[in-house]
Amino acid sequence: MLRLAQPSFGAAEIEAVAAVLRTGRLVHGAEGEAFERELGERLDGHDVVVVSSGTAALHLALWALGLGPGDAVVVPDFTFPATANAVAALGARPLLVDVEPDTFNLAPERVRQAIDAFRGPERVRALMPVHQFGAPADPAAFASLAQERGLWLVEDAACALGARSDGRPVGTFGAAGCFSFHPRKPLTTGEGGAIAVSDATLARRLRRLRNHGRGDSGFESVGLNLRLTEFQSALGRVQLPRLEAERALRSALAERYVQLLAALPVRLPAPVPGHVWQTYMVVLPERAERDGAIAALGRAGVEAGPGAACLHELPAARHWNAWRAEDNPESSRLGRAGLALPLHAQMDPGDVDRVVAALAEFLAGCA
Ligand SMILES: Cc1ncc(COP(=O)(O)O)c(C=O)c1O
Repeated sequence: MLRLAQPSFGAAEIEAVAAVLRTGRLVHGAEGEAFERELGERLDGHDVVVVSSGTAALHLALWALGLGPGDAVVVPDFTFPATANAVAALGARPLLVDVEPDTFNLAPERVRQAIDAFRGPERVRALMPVHQFGAPADPAAFASLAQERGLWLVEDAACALGARSDGRPVGTFGAAGCFSFHPRKPLTTGEGGAIAVSDATLARRLRRLRNHGRGDSGFESVGLNLRLTEFQSALGRVQLPRLEAERALRSALAERYVQLLAALPVRLPAPVPGHVWQTYMVVLPERAERDGAIAALGRAGVEAGPGAACLHELPAARHWNAWRAEDNPESSRLGRAGLALPLHAQMDPGDVDRVVAALAEFLAGCA
């Protein structure tokens, strides 16, 4: 089976983890601090706080910024549910805004309109654009909008470590940038995540909340345990220098997808500059049913899946008390017809040909 995603681990990763295990020191320490420094060097000198997952990164960032009941946070309606779950878990309200049909990202103008149309009773306090599947979501424009409206900008860059926009790494444009190291991401620590910030006070607060409320003078406040282990940090450190090579491999595969898929009746993702291609998602035509596509590709030895979810259609959204300004038709459509295809560094161009041939055969049968 050609997998949707497959981590690339070699002898160096295995030795790095084994070396930590031999020390018996497993809780955040020297490896974690080195990983934070090395990530920071790639993120324009930002202070980086590593945590146990991308979800923990989003939750902790919003918590440290003081968001909670009475607040609303702008979130794309088409994303992985963790984006809105982090808002809802703090008692705040996700304000779900429709995404664009080709980038699958929020557009600043639509967000501006949604904020103006929002009737409360909560107060909009933050913007949380997602760099969906590794495509930068115009963070400079969101930073301007956040400044203009007096809002926090928290970038959900879970899929986008290494992506750049206007010459800068994504995740460095707002108050906090959140990353995931889940196995479907180009850099993985099994589970894991990180938050990049430029404000030293915020960084201290994040470290305290990550570690049971512990600061310089003991247990100073409430907190949780959201730490990354030492062996996970060691694993991440080995992969970090390979990130650029990984991006180049993924871009070449994405280009081959574009060439071959041009002949099929599917909508392709826009080639956004600075993209890192964490996932390659196409949009099926109305007549093709996604579950049928997933099954047909599976029979051909190709794993496929939904790209992300339309949040307002999830059962959990009823409990989130989410708010929409309009119908969000594009998010509904992507939630129904988005099809993620295999994309990882262990594929070769022939694998792309095989995926496209299987998809072509399925679509020919849907006429
Ligand atoms: C956009 C987005 N945000 C947040 C997350 C959550 O990251 P994690 O799985 O590391 O908790 C993901 C995970 O896939 C994601 O795609």
